[in-house]
Amino acid sequence: MAVKTIKPGVLAVGTPDWDRRLFDDLIPLPDGTTYNSYIVKGSEKTALIDTTDPSKTEELLSNLKQAGINKIDYIISHHAEQDHSGSIPKLLELFPGSKTVTNRKCADMLKDLMPIAEESFIIVGDGQKLELGGKTLEFIIAPWVHWPETMFSYLKEDKLLFSCDFLGSHLASSELYAGTGELVYESAKRYYAEIMMPFRSSIKTNLEKISKLEIETVAPSHGPVYDKPGFIIDAYREWISDSVKNEVVIPFVSMHGSTRILVDSLVEELTKRNISVIPFNLTGGDIGKLAISLVDAATIVLAAPTVLAGAHPSALYAAALANALRPKCRFASIIGSYGWGGRMVEQLTALLPNLKAEIIPPVLVKGLPKESGLKLIEGLAAAIADKHKAAGLLK
Ligand code: FEO
Repeated sequence: MAVKTIKPGVLAVGTPDWDRRLFDDLIPLPDGTTYNSYIVKGSEKTALIDTTDPSKTEELLSNLKQAGINKIDYIISHHAEQDHSGSIPKLLELFPGSKTVTNRKCADMLKDLMPIAEESFIIVGDGQKLELGGKTLEFIIAPWVHWPETMFSYLKEDKLLFSCDFLGSHLASSELYAGTGELVYESAKRYYAEIMMPFRSSIKTNLEKISKLEIETVAPSHGPVYDKPGFIIDAYREWISDSVKNEVVIPFVSMHGSTRILVDSLVEELTKRNISVIPFNLTGGDIGKLAISLVDAATIVLAAPTVLAGAHPSALYAAALANALRPKCRFASIIGSYGWGGRMVEQLTALLPNLKAEIIPPVLVKGLPKESGLKLIEGLAAAIADKHKAAGLLK
């Protein structure tokens, strides 16, 4: 992609990955992604802010050539993960004399992941500044968004925050700026849900840290640049807040239709009670959509049949995923069907230790749901409605 100018002396030289459809062989990327890299050119020194995924090294080099960059003094590494650091060894080789500037923890992680010699590093700490000549980078140590070594850089003269993975989105676009549209919001929320949500308290701390800065532009490591930073910062404030919505997410799987009948009935009963419902079919579904729905929902109800005396493996996966993502939901339950017995409830609840949710008594039905089973579902819907009312989510 063409090199773009953000401010005089500040260039976007990163690389889009239009076709990438999975990250970490786990996270769906319906809109691709980008690996952002930026040049900050002072009157004396030139810094490259992060690099790119190793698969895109040649493209990054081509962008640097297009930008007329024939000398790099500093490679600022905000984060050791390979999608941003993977091209560092090649750049150190091609720009002899350049140094990798990062914090101690990140340097150690980089050395674990790729061949970089200790002498190649300049180690910086929180608040330390790097003068480039008319451009000053201030480093902000910002752990756990989303690895322990993550950090940001603030370019004082241009009021520009390079925020690393934080505030990013998996969205390949030919546009430099994000705007404030629905697609950008959805992509950023998906990214938050899948990558940042487990670190809500660290996000809170880091948002407080950057609130002291005057920020006109946020340049993250993935997705478009924000020239209206309030759009993304306010969205993060809302997502990490303790408030939840009057919503129930129902990740479900059904083998012969019995669990599906229970799910359909629960959807109807909750809807009747003015509760929003998001049923999510785990068979072939986009788990990113499930993750997004977990950002705000007050309640999660896992629905599964019994297989070999336990929950269907798709439900086990959904429970493990929800537990890893640590959504802020307040209530949880389980519904499902069985043939002759099983330990589905014990098994699923054991997989959810990170959820600080109150468990509403589950509903398990033997075989095809009959009137008595559907009555139990009605009772579960009423119990959820009572909980939502008590939490002030429903009148
Ligand atoms: Fe985009 Fe955590 O790397």
